[in-house]
Amino acid sequence: MTQDELKTLVGRAALNYVPLGEVVGVGTGSTVNRFIEALATMKDQIRGAVSSSVASTERLRAIGIRVFDANEVEDLAVYIDGADEIDGRGCMIKGGGAALTREKIVAAQSRRFVCIADDSKRVDMLGKFPLPVEIVPMATQRIVRQFAALGGTARVRLKDGQPLVTDNGQHILDVTGLAIRDPLAFETEVNQWPGVVTVGVFAQQKAAVCLLGTSGGVQVLNF
Ligand code: A5P
Repeated sequence: MTQDELKTLVGRAALNYVPLGEVVGVGTGSTVNRFIEALATMKDQIRGAVSSSVASTERLRAIGIRVFDANEVEDLAVYIDGADEIDGRGCMIKGGGAALTREKIVAAQSRRFVCIADDSKRVDMLGKFPLPVEIVPMATQRIVRQFAALGGTARVRLKDGQPLVTDNGQHILDVTGLAIRDPLAFETEVNQWPGVVTVGVFAQQKAAVCLLGTSGGVQVLNF
């Protein structure tokens, strides 16, 4: 099976986790796009969605699903999103699509994070995928130096030759060369650096379940 077929497989499998009659948290990325397509088949069975990006909001609205602002709902039963890496405890690196801050906000609002991913995302230790960090631009060089002190190389993510601007009006650093042995401690530390909006390690908001797309079918990992 191709990677795209695996994404379609887990996108469809995630329908089993959608709470009927409720509002569902919806993430961002190419795997979630497959989930949104599948969700169209049951759009009349849910009240709506809270979305983690402008891009997902547009896709949801295009298929007729009502999108609520996160402030309009209290807690969500489920948040369904992809990952760039997921380890054996359900900790993840996210933010390849630059939506990490809103993803973490919706994940924090949800009782259960259901991660959908193809098996290329499963790792033993986080850190091979360049770690996305959303930052306030004036703090860029200071944060680059702080990552260098940890052995990491941080680069500003570009789009059309200019710093990419997130849905929140901020920039993204992608950091390579890190071995994230203790995701929770790492997330807690980096999130306290002045100018960091969100680090793309999801250990506090880790996955409760991962639907992993493999050539043998969907593997369900419970954490
Ligand atoms: C978006 O900011 C990310 O966190 C995505 O969830 C992650 O990059 C996975 O994306 P794909 O499903 O496109 O691989």
